[in-house]
Amino acid sequence: MVHIEIDHVSHSYGQGPLARPVLNDVCADLTERRIGVVGHNGSGKSTFVRMLNALLVPSQGVVRVNGMDTAKQAGKVRKLAGFLFTDPDNQIIMPTVREDVAFGLRRSGLTKQQVNERVDQALTRFGLESHGDHPAHLLSGGQKQLLALASVLITEPELIIMDEPTTLLDLRNARMIGRVIADLPQTVVLATHHLDLLDEFDRVLVFDGGRLVADAPPARALDCYRGLMV
Ligand SMILES: Nc1ncnc2c1ncn2[C@@H]1O[C@H](COP(=O)(O)OP(=O)(O)OP(=O)(O)O)[C@@H](O)[C@H]1O
Ligand SMILES: [Mg+2]
Repeated sequence: MVHIEIDHVSHSYGQGPLARPVLNDVCADLTERRIGVVGHNGSGKSTFVRMLNALLVPSQGVVRVNGMDTAKQAGKVRKLAGFLFTDPDNQIIMPTVREDVAFGLRRSGLTKQQVNERVDQALTRFGLESHGDHPAHLLSGGQKQLLALASVLITEPELIIMDEPTTLLDLRNARMIGRVIADLPQTVVLATHHLDLLDEFDRVLVFDGGRLVADAPPARALDCYRGLMV
């Protein structure tokens, strides 16, 4: 179980007169396995989820993951927390599909053969086994998203943070990602506009103008969110 503590977190981009407040005194204590994050465009979702793996450090307040302050132990937090971006092109870094998946194991201390076995397992798990030697940038959008997920999961993070991972996908691939998420044993924090992905979630956070305005099981939280959209 991963424990995420959001302790009076506020955030501004920029400084001085140009400072732009985007999160306002957010507090939450999260221990659930499936946590959704919703809110209108610009409400602060990406800012919030980026704080959970220390991609961003709050201007005020503290974020702790399993007791580690993200401002002080960013490296350790990032080892524990994998991050999946909306656009997989942002995180596919190696030329071929195989190499990209293997990249996460470069400092694992595993032998070449062990790395190859793990990569094969990951490719098979995500239906990419026949694409191993293909240039990663030639995959379809859905396949790229699966590759990005495979490359994150191979490092065995305890916490997986996803920022709108289905936005670029067709309905079939979006549903496939939904099934993959449902089957993950790890803790998942998912920011999304695809509300049906959250039906089986344990807890949903609703942001509005940088404030956490609802924090409840999906049915209640999503009612609140739909109310805000009227
Ligand atoms: N790097 C940045 N520098 C300055 N302002 C930023 C930066 N990133 C985000 N913002 C601003 O912060 C606010 C919140 O942005 P954020 O990306 O967190 O929203 P979001 O809820 O993820 O929106 P969306 O649903 O469109 O992805 C927006 O007003 C945005 O313009
Ligand atoms: Mg966003």
